[in-house]
Amino acid sequence: MSESDLPVPLLPHARDAVRALRPSQIREVANAGFGVENVLPFWFGESDRITPEFIRQAASDALAAGATFYTHNLGIAPLRAALADYVARLHGPTSFENVAVTSAGVNALMLAAQLVVGAGDRVVAVTPLWPNLVEIPKILGAHVETVALGYGAQGWTLDLERLLAALTPDTKLLLLNSPSNPTGWVMSAAEQRAVLEHCRRLGIWIVADEVYERLYYTADVDTAAVETAAGASRTAPSFLDLAARDERVICVNSFSKAWLMTGWRLGWIVAPAALMDDLGKLVEYNTSCAPAFVQQAGLAAVQQGEPFTRQLVSELKTSRDHLVRALSALPDVDVKAPPGAMYLFFSLPGATHSLALCKALVREVGLGVAPGSAFGAEGEGFVRWCYACDTARLDAGVARLKQFLTTHAS
Ligand SMILES: Cc1ncc(COP(=O)(O)O)c(C=O)c1O
Repeated sequence: MSESDLPVPLLPHARDAVRALRPSQIREVANAGFGVENVLPFWFGESDRITPEFIRQAASDALAAGATFYTHNLGIAPLRAALADYVARLHGPTSFENVAVTSAGVNALMLAAQLVVGAGDRVVAVTPLWPNLVEIPKILGAHVETVALGYGAQGWTLDLERLLAALTPDTKLLLLNSPSNPTGWVMSAAEQRAVLEHCRRLGIWIVADEVYERLYYTADVDTAAVETAAGASRTAPSFLDLAARDERVICVNSFSKAWLMTGWRLGWIVAPAALMDDLGKLVEYNTSCAPAFVQQAGLAAVQQGEPFTRQLVSELKTSRDHLVRALSALPDVDVKAPPGAMYLFFSLPGATHSLALCKALVREVGLGVAPGSAFGAEGEGFVRWCYACDTARLDAGVARLKQFLTTHAS
């Protein structure tokens, strides 16, 4: 909905840019499921498992020790240092001054946008895309143009020339999410290099949302080799592999996905040291800091969580392949195994009206998946299924989909 389409409200109301934000279609589907017994939910982007015990224990210990006070705006020093080490291990030299702790990835995205985007600025985003990335700049009054990925035999692919053509000299910011929610698309290092060089030439900022960087299945996830910046085999290609830390690149990351910490609300930003004083002011006026005991839990995750993440990625790969096989066996379902993230974004009969289809799926057979249209007009025709659970649960979901498709077969 554009601002000019908004009805004039009679009651007190928020400003137009806020009223024009898209409401969540995933929530709309979930609401349709109220009153339905035993819904199997695959609609949200989180695992059905709880956070590992060693991380919960670290938070309990910190609470018991009295970690109940405000911290530095940019995070407690040990966590910033541990994150700098972690990022350096994965992506090359990164110092303490390049890292800020945030209240999860979504807060990091808001802070990054607040750092560089203002009213009237032109922002370009590659879609289909998790709605938060597209809506956040609009809160700040920016205009967001989209460049759609294409879908074909290779799955989701980027038309690099189209993206470069959209990155005009008056563009302030490019927003990218790779591995991508919802498509699982992963931008190649060659594409990143071309985009980075173009943005360097024109002075365009890049905000790279890399919260799924560890959920990358092309690498051999079963070996125990230690990852190195040179090998970079433990992550998807990252802008941090290519850009110097003082360039116009801001990378957003999160504890939610690699360590199953969605409810903790902890994330981080890697950005030029020259931005950190201003970022600190923005953190102060948004949240002031992430909770101290949550930061201690994050420290345990970064310092001790590598074996857990590797195991998780291996399990997710198994779940992904299992679900691809099961869905492929259904008539007229077009599904491909994407290289990253934790979703299948696939087409099936009826998905040309994906919101209506997803509401019917939840109402009639108790299957909860997200409509493709929740991720922009470019996502229409698809649904998103989060496969971060065991294969028995996936099988139960596929059985429900099969039942629905059989009932509705014309
Ligand atoms: C692409 C993307 N970015 C950022 C986030 C933010 O995650 P969180 O706020 O839990 O760190 C998510 C969550 O699903 C996401 O899918």
